[in-house]
Amino acid sequence: MIESRRGFLKKIGALLALGVPAAALLDGCASAGLPVYRYDNSGGRIDLYLRWYPELMTTGGVIELLVGGETGSIYVARVSFSRFAALSPECTSDGCKVKLEKNSFRCPCDGSTYYLDGSMTSGPANEPLRSFRTQFLDTSVRIFLS
Ligand code: FES
Repeated sequence: MIESRRGFLKKIGALLALGVPAAALLDGCASAGLPVYRYDNSGGRIDLYLRWYPELMTTGGVIELLVGGETGSIYVARVSFSRFAALSPECTSDGCKVKLEKNSFRCPCDGSTYYLDGSMTSGPANEPLRSFRTQFLDTSVRIFLS
């Protein structure tokens, strides 16, 4: 069933009134097999409230975040209970976009593989994925883009 524009806007207004952050799961979008969320505020820092990202509630969960500005796309992975990784999805060999495959990232171009924390498992790439500093704050994770 197709939702009317008015109904959709009403829901958005209700969510904003409840304090839902400026992020939204993009229905029907799955890049590299990952749920894709859009995050509108790209002011140098991202705060992800974990209750809005169910995939990140468990260790091994990964999402793709589409961030405005120059940052573009980043992968956010829960590496352990209190450790998160925020990574550029670009393979450090020749820049292909890596995909999630059996709890690790694999480059579809020449096969480089990386752990969920971005460190390398095998080449031909010889550097880890570019990462952003993260901070776990119990109910949220903060990502520092610069
Ligand atoms: S671009 Fe990833 S291995 Fe070549």
